[in-house]
Amino acid sequence: MSEISYAIAEDSRRRGYGHEAVVAACSWGAPAFGLTKIVALTWSANLVSRRMLVRAGFSDSVEVTQRFQGVDQAVCLYTWRLLDAP
Ligand SMILES: CC(C)(COP(=O)(O)OP(=O)(O)OC[C@H]1O[C@@H](n2cnc3c(N)ncnc32)[C@H](O)[C@@H]1OP(=O)(O)O)[C@@H](O)C(=O)NCCC(=O)NCCS
Repeated sequence: MSEISYAIAEDSRRRGYGHEAVVAACSWGAPAFGLTKIVALTWSANLVSRRMLVRAGFSDSVEVTQRFQGVDQAVCLYTWRLLDAP
């Protein structure tokens, strides 16, 4: 399983770069590395990130509590599949 992480510089957010970067990384990376599935973890309260993942073609959100960025917290696991590509 492969995981994608992402962060956009604060003064460059809300311009579509996050969406563009995630779509480009998945649609290029999946065939390049023979992946059919990529997962993304995001803090459940991070609604901007969650909406961006859904717009980028991620689905099947599952909420779990686990250690994330050093703290036990509610996180959502999203999955992107090659066939779901936007
Ligand atoms: C999550 C993150 C990567 C999103 O990056 P981004 O570049 O701001 O994402 P986008 O611009 O694609 O989308 C964000 C919002 O901007 C809006 N937007 C995009 N282009 C826009 C534009 N030209 N004008 C106005 N709004 C715009 C989108 O519609 C979206 O709105 P919504 O949240 O109401 O749905 C960024 O907020 C970030 O780096 N956060 C800190 C790190 C983080 O949380 N990482 C998540 C994994 S742990």
